[in-house]
Amino acid sequence: MKVALASDHGGINIRTEIAHLMDELGIEYQDFGCDGETSVDYPDYALSVAEKVASGEFDRGILICGTGIGMCIAANKVKGIRAALVHDTFSAKATRAHNDSNIISMGERVIGLGLAREIAQIWLTSEFEGERHGHCVNKITKIENKHL
Ligand code: RB5
Repeated sequence: MKVALASDHGGINIRTEIAHLMDELGIEYQDFGCDGETSVDYPDYALSVAEKVASGEFDRGILICGTGIGMCIAANKVKGIRAALVHDTFSAKATRAHNDSNIISMGERVIGLGLAREIAQIWLTSEFEGERHGHCVNKITKIENKHL
């Protein structure tokens, strides 16, 4: 599995923590910034990661900003992306199992490093359950393709 990772200036600490986690788990990833604490525009980072996941160059993406909300909204504008805003461990597993989410976003102003790490680990190691959930995910794709 290859993971694309990025944050804006509001999410650098969680991004660093998750990079360490993926090093420990032996998960291949690429860090797409941002570089410092100077203010940047989160949609630029969301688009970069979302395009890499939607194209198949990367299997999954992790996006961090202050709230996680802006990253999630922006990533979901890219066709083929199912981005989930996750701030608890139950949802981390459920959004893989039920929604086949290919991106998660988290907010560094919302949760601490320990919980973010736990959420990322659960999400990275949980599988889509398919079957009846596949039916709903296919409906989401139909909405995206405007084949209602
Ligand atoms: C940046 O100040 C902040 O708006 C951003 O990190 C994020 O919270 C947006 O949703």
